[in-house]
Amino acid sequence: MSIAKPYLNIPGTTIFDAEQSRRGYWLNQFCMSLMKADNRTRFKADERAYLDEWPMSEAQKRAIAARDLNECIRLGGNIYFLAKLGATDGRSFFQMASSMTGLSEEEYREIMLRGGRSGKCALNTPAVQRGTSAAQGVRITASVYTSHVPAIGAAIDQRRQAEPYWQPVFRGYEPSRRWLEANMPDVVVLVYNDHASAFSLDFIPTFAIGMAASFPPADEGWGPRPVPVVQGHPELAAHIAHSVIQEDFDITLVNGMPVDHGLTVPLSLMCGDVEAWPFAVIPLAVNVVQYPVPSGRRCFQLGQAIRRALESFDSPLHVQVWGTGGMSHQLQGPRAGLINSAWDNRFLDRLIADPEDLSRVAHLEYVREAGSEGIELVMWLVARGAMGDVAGGPKPIVRHRLYHVPVSNTALGHLILENP
Ligand code: DHB
Ligand code: FE
Repeated sequence: MSIAKPYLNIPGTTIFDAEQSRRGYWLNQFCMSLMKADNRTRFKADERAYLDEWPMSEAQKRAIAARDLNECIRLGGNIYFLAKLGATDGRSFFQMASSMTGLSEEEYREIMLRGGRSGKCALNTPAVQRGTSAAQGVRITASVYTSHVPAIGAAIDQRRQAEPYWQPVFRGYEPSRRWLEANMPDVVVLVYNDHASAFSLDFIPTFAIGMAASFPPADEGWGPRPVPVVQGHPELAAHIAHSVIQEDFDITLVNGMPVDHGLTVPLSLMCGDVEAWPFAVIPLAVNVVQYPVPSGRRCFQLGQAIRRALESFDSPLHVQVWGTGGMSHQLQGPRAGLINSAWDNRFLDRLIADPEDLSRVAHLEYVREAGSEGIELVMWLVARGAMGDVAGGPKPIVRHRLYHVPVSNTALGHLILENP
């Protein structure tokens, strides 16, 4: 695509990037399975039968069976994963490395004892092209902001939209559905938070981007929502990751994960009950569960970096960035049920008119004024940063604005902003 990959031309070297990772996903997952003693035993007992349990290509299975590590790497394997296969065979990293050089293990040892191999090579690498807006760049037209309350998903799934409690909510999204029909994107970068569904307490990425081709709805305990599997956009996701990380914006790469109500409820609200989601979705998860959580400022800056990434993707795709969560709510403790309509509406005003200023609001204010779970609102600043308008320049056009209390324990907020 539009970001050059200078690392593709280094002789005898394969860089494990998003494309290789995608190619080798199951091969590497198979290797990981060998970290369990039971699996090693089953693999050794009948290699072919064990390999057939994994959705790998025949070429990958043959490369593994032959212990051809160069071929495994060409087919997407990564040495740290393949090392589990080597270890299962009782081999060391030294033996594995030597097996890929074309030298015998003895020759390799001799050379290493004499100071190692000369890996010098002519690096014929083109300059990295980045940040240039291509003639055929992505169109970033609008951003959508919406709550994600699980009870909304349940109301849709159980067809209770016409009940008096739900009517004002679903009627409020009717203009949004019409707007979306008329402004259907190819891809939505959907900024949301995971609620202990994909990420346990073992690993908590501050920012994570979904690079997979698809994301299943999570089973949050009630069974997975009966909604379509979310189709991703691996090429654009890899491009965004590459671009923002090169701008020193660390983001966690996620090659597979389920998506919970934080992502599927906004889709349901905007798209309704559909057979398939009408666009690809790049999930962008923000940690707002365990502190420290990122500042509003950092979220806003991430949005700006995402915009630069999108603008440098050489494709005529129509992209929208959505921010989700909120508004004021607290789901815990004696203060549960807190709603602060005045603060919420001021937040909406400021998000439209002066997001830069709004991005300076401290966590403590979110928690004090909008409740502990009101911190979800920082995610709206990612989407707002991606709108790309500058202070003093023309403001986005407000296509729709909705505020309704209560929805379950929350104040529901919703905005559609279009670039002028
Ligand atoms: C509720 C709101 C949320 O944002 C959430 O993640 C879970 C539950 C609620 O109000 O019920
Ligand atoms: Fe939530």
